[in-house]
Amino acid sequence: MTAQWQRKRAILQTLSRGDFVSGEHIAEQLGVSRAAVGKQITGLSDYGLDIASVKGKGYKLYNPLFLIDDERLVAGCANRCFYFDEIDSTNAFLLNHAEELQRGDICIAEYQAAGRGRRGRKWHSPYGSHLYFSMHWHLQQGMAQAMGLSLVVACSLVHVLQQFGAAGIGVKWPNDIYLDGRKLAGVLIEMNGAADSGCNVVIGIGVNIAMPAPQGELIDQPWSDLQQLESMPDKTDLALALYQQLLDDLQLFERDGLAAFQTRWNAADIYQGQEVNLLLGEHVVSGRYLGIDEQGGVLLDTANGQQQFVGGEISLRKA
Ligand code: BTN
Repeated sequence: MTAQWQRKRAILQTLSRGDFVSGEHIAEQLGVSRAAVGKQITGLSDYGLDIASVKGKGYKLYNPLFLIDDERLVAGCANRCFYFDEIDSTNAFLLNHAEELQRGDICIAEYQAAGRGRRGRKWHSPYGSHLYFSMHWHLQQGMAQAMGLSLVVACSLVHVLQQFGAAGIGVKWPNDIYLDGRKLAGVLIEMNGAADSGCNVVIGIGVNIAMPAPQGELIDQPWSDLQQLESMPDKTDLALALYQQLLDDLQLFERDGLAAFQTRWNAADIYQGQEVNLLLGEHVVSGRYLGIDEQGGVLLDTANGQQQFVGGEISLRKA
């Protein structure tokens, strides 16, 4: 950890104890000037934290902080594990270092300055609030396997969350994870390599743990976080369980293909049996949603009989 982040973490720890803390008190504790504390706290607000500043009372952090125990994380991973307080994007980091990495190496950060979501969207990544996790993988059969991969990863995440006792978890094709009907987590697969031969992929996963109020307002769809569960998993335990589950599932996928996940996916699919609209560019196809087939395509019972749809540019909406 850099000296700069050691100081920032010390301030955040003091601010997260519940009550307002005066600038003088923090300055005394850290052995720096009152002005230096003010500057640090202003800087910390840029990391998406919900910090109140009240004249005469001091400062207080409204949102709880959840930080990875990096020693435990590294000890629990057989692969290389890169951990940062801040980074542009954990996916970008692994993509940029793909040639030096082994399958299963992971990167986790507490804050992403340029977190990436699907379809070019920004993934809001406030400090210490959520899990930002990426894993390097190599697809032996090239990009043809990539579509199935995102479905497999969503199944892994569902399994892990259910193991921690989370009820109300479901998936929405192709790779959104929902809790009680609102988006809890997303998966972004990025890759480089040839279409027909093996390619390096990065599996990026963002899981909402405790959304700071100002960040929640920036999100343009209903969201949920693990904080609303009766008992929420520890962030390090969650990251380690996800790491292990992904290793197991990715190897199963390689051996048996997507067929091994079809039942798991369909059991968790929130649209199963419902009337939906499938958006294919300008076209809309309506029908009853029947889940996925062995290739990961969407099955619809339409006016023209049962149809299968595959491809990246498809969106699914409830009718
Ligand atoms: C989505 O749009 O639903 C996918 C979101 C994926 C976000 C994760 S957070 C870790 C990894 N790094 C990124 O920049 N994005 C992914």
